[in-house]
Amino acid sequence: MEVNYREIDKAHVWHPLFQHQRLEETDLLVFKSAHGTTLVDVDGNEYLDAYSALWNVNVGYGRQEIADAVYAQIQELCYYPHSQINVPATELAAQLAACLPGDLNHVFFCNSGSEANETAIKIARQYGRQTYPGENRYKIITRYRGYHGFTYGAMSATGQARRRKAFEPLVPGFHHAHPPYCYRCPLGLEYPSCNVACVNEIERIIQSEGPETVIAVIAEPIIGGGGIIVPPDEYFPKLRKICDDYGLLLILDEVITGFGRTGKMFACEHWDVQPDLITLAKGLTSGYIPLGACVASTPVFKTFLGDSDENREFSQVCTYGGHPVACAAGVANLNILQSERLWENAEKVGSYLLEKLKTLESLPIVGDVRGKGLMLAVEFIKADGTHLETAKTNQIVGQLREKGVIVGKIGHAVDEPENIIYIAPPLILTESEADKIYNTLRQVLVQ
Ligand SMILES: Cc1ncc(COP(=O)(O)O)c(C=O)c1O
Repeated sequence: MEVNYREIDKAHVWHPLFQHQRLEETDLLVFKSAHGTTLVDVDGNEYLDAYSALWNVNVGYGRQEIADAVYAQIQELCYYPHSQINVPATELAAQLAACLPGDLNHVFFCNSGSEANETAIKIARQYGRQTYPGENRYKIITRYRGYHGFTYGAMSATGQARRRKAFEPLVPGFHHAHPPYCYRCPLGLEYPSCNVACVNEIERIIQSEGPETVIAVIAEPIIGGGGIIVPPDEYFPKLRKICDDYGLLLILDEVITGFGRTGKMFACEHWDVQPDLITLAKGLTSGYIPLGACVASTPVFKTFLGDSDENREFSQVCTYGGHPVACAAGVANLNILQSERLWENAEKVGSYLLEKLKTLESLPIVGDVRGKGLMLAVEFIKADGTHLETAKTNQIVGQLREKGVIVGKIGHAVDEPENIIYIAPPLILTESEADKIYNTLRQVLVQ
C-alpha cells in the first residue's frame, strides 16, 4: 500500500511560517529527489528551482563529490568536539581565510546563519568590554527590513516587525536605521540627490546613543528576505568609514550573499569593503549539511589573547561547531565553487536574466526589478503604484509553480502587503534556464 505522506505530515509536523489551517484547502509539495537545478516531487512532476531551496543550494543538487566526501568522513571520523583539531574543519578554515578578503583569518564554526550572527554579536560585545575598559560598549546598530536569524540575539538584530512582534520584549541594545531601499525610500528622498542620507542616519543614531555605548553595526550587504535591497555603491564605503571614525566593528552578514550568489565570491568585494566580522552559512555547504561560521579579522582575534587568568578567551561552545562531516561537505562544496568559478556564472547569467526581467517593468503590474548576480527581485504594484495585494502575489507564485518554476516570495517580514518575488537559482543556471524563468513569468503576468 502506498504511504500517504501528506496525511502523516499533517498529523505530526509543524512547518515554519505556515498557517496549518490552510492545509484544509491547499497541499504542500512532497519532494522526492533533485539534480542540477531540477526538483522532482513524489508524483514525478519536475520543477526548475529558481530559489535554490532557500537561497542556499549554490552548486546545485546531486553533486557526487559532496556525497562522497560526507560518506568518507563519516567512516573516517564521524564526530569529535572542536575542543581538539579535526582535519576537515582545519582545511575548511584555511580555505576560507584564503578566499575571504583581507585579514579575515579566524573561523568560529557553528551550525546555521542564526548561530553565526549570535556568535558575531557575542564576539562584538566581548570585544567591546576588552577593548574599551571602563566604557560600556554593547549597543549594535542594524537596519529595518534586515534579517539576521530566529534566535533571540539575531532576531533582536532583525528589523522585520512581523518576525519579532509575537516574541517581544527582545534583547536590549539593538537600534535600527532605515535601509537603502531606493524604490520606496523610507526617508522620502531620491537617489542621488539624497546623498545617501540613510547611511548618515546610522551616524546620527550612534551620536544620539552616545558612541561610548556602541560597539558594532551589523548589515547584510544586500538585504535578502527583506526585499532584495541593493545599496548605492557609496553606501558600504561610507559605512566602513563611520565604523572606523567611532571605533566600531562592522559585521557583514553574508549568509545569503556569500559564496558567489551576487557575482563575486563575497558581496563586500563589490565595494572593496572589508568587515571586521563576517557571518556565513547557506552557500558554505550549499545546504548539503548544516554549517555556519563567524570569521574574525586578525586585529579582532588578537584582542582575545592573554594569560589564562585574564579570561579573555571567547566564552562560547557549540557541540556541533566544526563538525567534521559538515566541514568535509564545506571543503568539497568550496572546491566545486572555485574550480567551476561559479560566481562568474552568477554574474554572467544573472546580468542576462536581470536585463530580460527589466523589460517587464513596461507592464503595469511590475513596479521594480532589481538585484545583483543571481539574487533578483520583482516588485509588483497596483495601478496607483501601491503594493499589489498579498493574495495576488501568492497567485502569481502559484501559477509559476503550476508551470514548473519555483520562486521565493517576501514573507512575514514587514507590515505591508507581500508584493515581492525572489529569483535566486543555483549558480549553475544556464541561459536557456534563465529564458524559461523569464518566459514563464511573462506568460503568467500577461495572461
Ligand atoms: C541574511 C540572513 N542571515 C541569517 C539567516 C539565518 O540563517 P539560518 O536560517 O540558517 O539560521 C538568514 C536566513 O535566511 C539570512 O537570510
